[in-house]
Parts: sequence; C-alpha cells; structure tokens
Amino acid sequence: MKGKFISFEGSDGAGKTSVLKAIRADLEKQLGTSKVMYTREPGGDRISEQIRRVLVDRQNTDMDSRTEALLFAASRRQHVVEDLRPALAAGKVILCDRYVDSSIAYQGAGRRLGEQAVWQINRFAIDGLLPELTIYLDIPTELGLRRIATHRADQINRLDQEQLAFYQAVRHSYLRLQKADPQRIKKIDASQSLDQVVSDVKIAIHTKFPELFTDEF
Ligand code: TYD
Repeated sequence: MKGKFISFEGSDGAGKTSVLKAIRADLEKQLGTSKVMYTREPGGDRISEQIRRVLVDRQNTDMDSRTEALLFAASRRQHVVEDLRPALAAGKVILCDRYVDSSIAYQGAGRRLGEQAVWQINRFAIDGLLPELTIYLDIPTELGLRRIATHRADQINRLDQEQLAFYQAVRHSYLRLQKADPQRIKKIDASQSLDQVVSDVKIAIHTKFPELFTDEF
C-alpha cells in the first residue's frame, strides 16, 4: 500500500486532540499499529521537540513574529526529513496534528505576517510535501475559546494567550484556505458532539481513501 499523509487542523478549542485520538484508535484497529504513524507539529522528532520547547516557553514573550514563523518552518523541515518522508516511503498512514496550514493561519493571518510571505518560507521547508487530505475542524471563535477556558485553563501557554481578534483572523484564514483548495482540505463542523465530529471525519477519510476501511462504520 502507498503511504498516505493526512493532516489535522483547527483553531485552539476545536477538539482536535480528542478527535485525533479516536481516529487514530480506529485506524490502528483497521490496519494494525505498525501501519499508522501519529505525529504532531511543532515536534515529532528530537530536534523539532527542542524547537517546540522554545516556541511554547511562556517566558519568550519578546519573541519576534518572524522568528516565530521561521522556527515553526525549521521544525517542520526537520519533521519532513526525519519522520514524514520515511513513513510515507514505508507505506504508512500519517496522522499529523497540524502542518503548514497552521503557519499560514497563525503566523500569516493571526500574527499578520502575510499569508504569502509565510507560504514562501514554508515552501522552502516542505519542499513539495503537502498532505493528500487535510481535516479542518471549524468552530466559531468564541465557542472555541470558551472550551479552552473551561477544559484547559491549567495548560494555557504563551500562544494561547492571544486575543479574540487573533483567533478570528486565524479562523478566517483557514476558511479561505479551505475554499481555495476544497479537494485537499475538508471542513468539518466541530461545534457538534464529539461522536458526530469523529463520524464526519471518518466519512471524509473513507471517501478519500476507501481502501483503508474494510469494516462498515
Ligand atoms: P499545541 O500545544 O499543539 O495545541 P493544539 O492542541 O491547539 O494543537 O499548540 C501549538 C500551538 O502552536 C497552537 O496554538 C497553534 C500554534 N502553531 C502555530 O502558531 N503555527 C504552526 O505552524 C503550528 C504547527 C502551530
């Protein structure tokens, strides 16, 4: 079987982590654990995890936005070379928690660096490797932020402390990306119940890659 690259995107509070956990368990049951690779950005391999620590450090409030964008791109580059390309060559299904669209939305739109500028540095970093399928979990900004405040108050990091306008810009950027490339990016309504969201995501994956599923669902 040819490797498959699926990325998961969404604003903070969209429920991406819970959804990914369910999808991962389901695919591992279908294909066996050795065929599925779960990974996350920023992070994955040792060097990217080191870069992640700099990015999420609450003390780094003085980090310049371009520095931040370059660090995300650098981490992504290492992830592509060390993890993603080898996994695809080995025929695995990659479930990647965030990828290049996060940078376009968060740094390009949220931090106002410009979507094109951020795309340029990321084009250099990913060197042609785009997911075949991107699951975008869409949620109204206020609802997403309310979910973070109630469930993850203890985990709020430097990047989570941004204002409503930031997250609204992030969401609109994701929506624009989805409209521009509906073949690759599938929008899922993440304001629904977790079960319903998981079911919608399974349908999107099944539609794109019917060969992955043997059971009915
Ligand atoms: P993370 O701790 O992985 O949380 P989440 O569960 O929301 O994905 O969050 C990492 C943060 O980094 C998140 O706020 C989004 C942000 N981010 C960017 O700004 N640019 C990027 O390129 C990536 C990959 C993440």
